[in-house]
Amino acid sequence: MLRRFTKLLQFNQCQRILSCASLSSSSMSEGKFKLADKYKGLETNVWVEFIQLALEQKPLNLGQGFPDFAAPDHVTKSLADVATGENLLMNQYTRGYGHPRLVQALASFYGKLVGRSLDPYKNILVGAGAYEALFCGIMSTVNGGDEVIIIEPFFDCYEPMVRLAGGTPVFIPLKPKGDESTSENWVLDEEELRSKFTSKTKAIIINTPHNPLGKIFNRAELQVIADLCIQHDVLCMSDEVYEWLVYAPNEHVRIATLPGMWERTITVGSAGKTFSVTGWKLGWAYGPENLIKNLGIAHQNCVYTCSTPLQEACARGFELEMSRFGTPDCYFQSLAAELLPKRDYMAKFLSENGMKPVVPQGGYFMVANWTELEKYSDLSQEPDPLKDYKFVKWLSKTKKLQGIPPSAFYSKEHKRLGENYIRFCFIKQDSNLKKADEILTKWKSER
Ligand SMILES: Cc1ncc(COP(=O)(O)O)c(C=O)c1O
Repeated sequence: MLRRFTKLLQFNQCQRILSCASLSSSSMSEGKFKLADKYKGLETNVWVEFIQLALEQKPLNLGQGFPDFAAPDHVTKSLADVATGENLLMNQYTRGYGHPRLVQALASFYGKLVGRSLDPYKNILVGAGAYEALFCGIMSTVNGGDEVIIIEPFFDCYEPMVRLAGGTPVFIPLKPKGDESTSENWVLDEEELRSKFTSKTKAIIINTPHNPLGKIFNRAELQVIADLCIQHDVLCMSDEVYEWLVYAPNEHVRIATLPGMWERTITVGSAGKTFSVTGWKLGWAYGPENLIKNLGIAHQNCVYTCSTPLQEACARGFELEMSRFGTPDCYFQSLAAELLPKRDYMAKFLSENGMKPVVPQGGYFMVANWTELEKYSDLSQEPDPLKDYKFVKWLSKTKKLQGIPPSAFYSKEHKRLGENYIRFCFIKQDSNLKKADEILTKWKSER
């Protein structure tokens, strides 16, 4: 009798649990726990998809932009010292808008570069990577209905960030003028650009040196943008995370230094790119006090404060590099010198194996036209609608070499402009670049 009663009790409990489970799963599917509306249409992300592919296929991954070699010793040692040093507070919260020693270093350094005195506490905001600095820049300035001009191809987060802020992205593509084999020839059509500025335009986002093309906007090109910004009272968000990766004779010009632009420019930088520590996810924005104050409001309602030991180590890194700035020992200069032969080697082996690279003036990516290889690849098994997605996946699965499909860096309406290309990253050990060369050479010998 007692056993029957206990069984009945257990049965009833099971029923209750099951009905709760089915209630929660049905209510979830009915809507209460659905993705919030503001994220609708933003579900996919090229990095999530292709990092997953790399995990599955284990290819030689030249897709994502990070160095596979050591960061400068002094930077990583500083982090170890800071974390284990005597000042225990270095492992605790620091100032929300930026750790004092870091904002002081940034203000002193960028102050010299832009030729004005910067207040560390008013002109600088430190964020969780350039990514968060961009997010705060966009969130704190864009209102519903505002238009934001985005130059294509673009670092993929610009578009969703503008949409999340309620803004409308307005796209304009860089197109090759004549020979497409150098990033210099990828230009904006001036008339087309002019036509994108309307009474609703709030901001334009520029990226120089450019990801993925490696274009460096020259002074004349920046002047056209600056004149339009001034004429239409538009804000400029300048993503300059690759500011030190500039290949001679090119020169990096900061749009904030053009007459009339400081007041309307937010410039974004990244410790990850500057010191080859992309995993640190530390970045900054600098600009006029009123704009930086706005960014701070977005930041304090999002991340609030960034990691103290990383900021302290980054500050020490800047202090050392500032002391040798302009000499070949300075990492900001030596990294570009180290990357130049890698760039040239990649351009050579891609050309020799049937691709047509766009040689970048800056940055550490190379976009290459792969269409000559289509006849040697079997893309029929890949369901993606875009050919570059098919090719990148096929190459990863069958040749074990991975890149990134550039159509991910175009708006829906212009995705076809990216289809003929693949993006590779060349901030990799020579041995890995050689492996990529071998993979492609072997494939060539087989066809
Ligand atoms: C153009 C551009 N902007 C911003 C970022 C983000 O930088 P961080 O890693 O500092 O957030 C990247 C990273 O690849 C980038 O290529």
